[in-house]
Amino acid sequence: MKKILVATEKPFAKVAVEGIKKIVEDAGFELVLLENYSQKGELMQAVADADAIIIRSDIVDGEVFESAKKLKIVVRAGAGYDNIDLATATAKGVVAMNTPGQNSNAVAELAMGMMVFAARNNFNGLSGTELRGKNLGLHAYGHVGKAVATIARGFGMEIYAFDPFVDKKTIEAEGIHYIDDVNELYKTCQYVSLHMPATAQTKKSINDNLLSLMPKGATLINTARKEVIDEEGLLKMFTERADFKYVSDVEPDCKALIAEKFSGRFYFTPKKIGAQTAEANNNAGLAAARQIVNFFIKNETTFQVNK
Ligand code: 3PG
Repeated sequence: MKKILVATEKPFAKVAVEGIKKIVEDAGFELVLLENYSQKGELMQAVADADAIIIRSDIVDGEVFESAKKLKIVVRAGAGYDNIDLATATAKGVVAMNTPGQNSNAVAELAMGMMVFAARNNFNGLSGTELRGKNLGLHAYGHVGKAVATIARGFGMEIYAFDPFVDKKTIEAEGIHYIDDVNELYKTCQYVSLHMPATAQTKKSINDNLLSLMPKGATLINTARKEVIDEEGLLKMFTERADFKYVSDVEPDCKALIAEKFSGRFYFTPKKIGAQTAEANNNAGLAAARQIVNFFIKNETTFQVNK
């Protein structure tokens, strides 16, 4: 019988685990759970006899693949797959997939919530500002960027998007201003929300050159990855621009310095919580389970990311 391991250092909601279990068992497979683990060794042990794994931001590197002797497929229940060593997966003949779009609404709601929180001075009681009529720049326009645009429209924001992989027609068809030069996005928007994956091209790409272009009242919202930020540039922006605020889903490495010097101008979640809702866990977790069943039964490889 095939063993499907759910390995989540940050567990799914209970309802999602029950849904995954049902899909897996209805297909005649066995579900094994490894939740809240803290050592890579625990994952390496659990994966040793697994045919498939469902993960979230859990790191699946060369060593993990090495101990996964029977593994055929790893599915990242979520969008970003920078936590999987794709080269090793391919070399070992393991199919890697993600579940695009399944948790994007949860992340988008958090991005909007963080924007409101920053605009209202971290809810400290002092007079803040409104989002209506302000320019919002979406840096990358994938599933999450699109979901943020949908909500931001209801707030009455003016929306701009820059994404080198999405054409002008698609963006304009949704009533969004198309921007083809990233500098223009930062020059135009008081609020910039980041939605790109962490890749060799995007890591440390949000630097002082870009941030310093932002108009007065600049707020950067990061529900993407901390790795896309050039933290030296971020600190420079905090130092040189008293109006600048940064809200981020996960703490930057330089958190202590920011907390010491720039009180009231930032907020960082202690743990990545963008996709941490029952709905998103259900959507992404169940999609991952179905993709695994369809892979084993029908040989389906839609959403494979290491083709
Ligand atoms: C994603 O890439 O899907 C999000 O960052 C969510 O990650 P998580 O499943 O670890 O919360």
